[in-house]
Amino acid sequence: MDLKLVRSTPSELDTDAVVLFQLEGSERDDLKTALAHSYSSGEIKGKPFEFTLVHNLPGYKARRVLVAGAGKQEKFDSAAVRKIAGAAVRFLKGKGITTVAFALGAGESSAANVTAAVEGAILGAWEPDALKTSADEKSKPLALIVVAVESQEPALDAALEKGRVVAEAANLTRDISVEPPNVLTPMALAARARAMAEANGLSIEILDQDRMRQLGMGALLGVAQGSINPPALIVMRYTPPKVTSKDHLALIGKGVTFDTGGISIKPADGMEKMKYDMAGGAAVIGAMQAIARLKPAVAVTGFVPTVENMPGGNAQRPGDIVKSLSGKTVEILNTDAEGRLILCDAIAYAKQLGCTHMVDAATLTGAIVVALGHTHSGVFTNNDALLARWMAAGKEAAENMWPMPLDDEYREQLNTVYADIQNIGTRWGGACTAATFLKEFVGDTPWVHVDIAGTGWLDDEKKFMAKGPTGVPVGSFVNLAMNWT
Ligand code: BES
Ligand code: ZN
Ligand code: ZN
Repeated sequence: MDLKLVRSTPSELDTDAVVLFQLEGSERDDLKTALAHSYSSGEIKGKPFEFTLVHNLPGYKARRVLVAGAGKQEKFDSAAVRKIAGAAVRFLKGKGITTVAFALGAGESSAANVTAAVEGAILGAWEPDALKTSADEKSKPLALIVVAVESQEPALDAALEKGRVVAEAANLTRDISVEPPNVLTPMALAARARAMAEANGLSIEILDQDRMRQLGMGALLGVAQGSINPPALIVMRYTPPKVTSKDHLALIGKGVTFDTGGISIKPADGMEKMKYDMAGGAAVIGAMQAIARLKPAVAVTGFVPTVENMPGGNAQRPGDIVKSLSGKTVEILNTDAEGRLILCDAIAYAKQLGCTHMVDAATLTGAIVVALGHTHSGVFTNNDALLARWMAAGKEAAENMWPMPLDDEYREQLNTVYADIQNIGTRWGGACTAATFLKEFVGDTPWVHVDIAGTGWLDDEKKFMAKGPTGVPVGSFVNLAMNWT
């Protein structure tokens, strides 16, 4: 797909379609004569996601003008631009239109809106149909996106590029997340990470089972032992061109390529969805690609512990006690609470490598979906300063985040007489006890945990996004790194 920023008025754009944003309750000066009847009849109201396609509008070089309802002025921010751009692209693609221009007028062409329009368009164009074999059914990629501005502001070129890099990274995450679990084994995930790292100049190390045994990652290996597909710990390193701070950020993502639950097996109904239990890991791989391209000033290492959670003949049992890399012993009471077991060893390893700040993303609990639904990721922390940075990064990326409690009181639920900690709590507050389990291994290092079980996957298509993996929280990861200093 081609992308360009042009300094031009909407009427000069020579594309299949030009998208114009139409605020609710007003008439655009450039349309009010030609489309007087559409306005007066109420056909164009400007409600969000209202689309009116006009052919051969006099004075316009483009074949079509798409009047895109943008909602009320006071709600028309860059998050709205992102959604409307995505929905416009999906609307146009549905009609076979693949060269699209977005015209951002005088009050609309901020850097944030340019980034948002590009991101929304590229994310909106993505479809989960890589394995369809019939060309008719497969969606056609966009050929060209143009963002047209009247402003001469030079920063808009970088804003355009950032939108492209972040959206392509999120789409890489989605490509990986949607792969079926027979194809995307832990070693296949490691191969995807290696290909990304080599193509983008990152160094990468893949720790295999033997290496992890030598190091003492008993918690991760306990989960892996039920599968014939061997586990891995993927470590991707980005070093900034100019080192300006001692900080070293770790991004850690859960990479369970399939979660059957293990011996504590899940119900059959809906189990196929558990192929996306590696969405956090895929988000780390995507974010590292964007970071390699955008080159923030802080050192960032991405960690993806990856396993398949299967109930094989050698599977871990409820009652097993494993020794984690941190030295702490863990009693397994439910083999389906496996994400925290692989993450605790990755967290301990990130600390051993000297990471000073950590953010992990994981499809960790069904409980977070009960608490927050599919609109917000749940965020837990031991450090309010890092939380503030994370929330700002999320807001800028239009990835909704919601802070959750992590009081010491939750720790009581994880007490056991047989080991240092057990891997599940009671029925209640499951997202909080899962986070509390992780916190035990984090120690004093500033850390944020993001539970994306509800936000990593869309069960139903949205106007601006296909069903399936969303790529959350790639944008937040990237913003956190970019805004570090
Ligand atoms: N991968 C699941 C969490 C999950 C559930 C992700 C639904 C996406 C959608 C996780 O490994 C899990 O099974 N968690 C258990 C924990 C329980 C056994 C304490 C859960 O949430 O039920
Ligand atoms: Zn599980
Ligand atoms: Zn899981």
